[in-house]
Amino acid sequence: MSDPLVYLNGSLTPLSEAKIPVLDRGFIFGDGIYEVIPVYQRKMFRSDQHLARLFRSLTAIGITNPHSKEEWLSLIDQVMTAHEADDQMVYIQVTRGVAKRAHAFPKEATPTVFIMTNPIVLPSATAREQGVACVSMEDKRWLRCEIKSISLLGNVLAAENAAEHGVTESIQFRDGYLTEASSSNVWIVKNGVMAGPPKDNLILEGIRYGLIQELCAAQNIPLEARRITKEEVFAADEVMLSSATKEILAVVRIDEQTIGKGKPGPIYQQLFQAYQQAKAT
Ligand SMILES: Cc1ncc(COP(=O)(O)O)c(C=O)c1O
Repeated sequence: MSDPLVYLNGSLTPLSEAKIPVLDRGFIFGDGIYEVIPVYQRKMFRSDQHLARLFRSLTAIGITNPHSKEEWLSLIDQVMTAHEADDQMVYIQVTRGVAKRAHAFPKEATPTVFIMTNPIVLPSATAREQGVACVSMEDKRWLRCEIKSISLLGNVLAAENAAEHGVTESIQFRDGYLTEASSSNVWIVKNGVMAGPPKDNLILEGIRYGLIQELCAAQNIPLEARRITKEEVFAADEVMLSSATKEILAVVRIDEQTIGKGKPGPIYQQLFQAYQQAKAT
């Protein structure tokens, strides 16, 4: 589908014709938030959690939610239905709207609402079977990483760093402690215990974060949310990434170092299977 229908401020329009004014604060200041929802067989996966995070993001930056939950579901459904793919990745963006350029919030502005969808691109069979490589880097982003902000320059630079190294992700550390990757959460396993960084302002709470908590509880895998040192990550038996498009993905090398046995480990295999079952229900 070369020119799919997207939703912009009240109407469905072909992507190629969707336009916003240059004074939109998303363009001028990166003043907005976004959400990415995976869709399997035309059904959103964990839609309640994704919409709840969308609403939290709006509240966090002081944008009045322009739609009720029912309206959001209906708008997303229209864009989803118009697309030919069964498995999609819905992208939602809300900015503070169009106003004369001045940093502080404008007195009156109508939020810009944009929704598009694309076929979801999941990890390749090779990536699944063999695991992926990553590089480590210092986390130099701002201190409000819990907001799913469209101001993504720090994440863009981290993703570019990974691309330049020919690997999947940059795993970031702040003051020697694990935070997250450029667009995924990071997990370690040591002696059968899974651990992830605490949900605080240093990471985005992925929707898979909560899901992994549920899956671990159901599978009797102990899970700790705690600060994790860089040394622990390199010495882990398993390292995993999680995100809407990576689902759960095993990391088998970071920088020049092999992680664990250098192949996807048993806890990864267990969680991956559980994830696939959760998708299918
Ligand atoms: C910085 C960052 N952390 C974590 C995640 C994982 O979030 P989710 O599981 O909701 O995809 C993402 C997803 O894009 C992200 O951009």
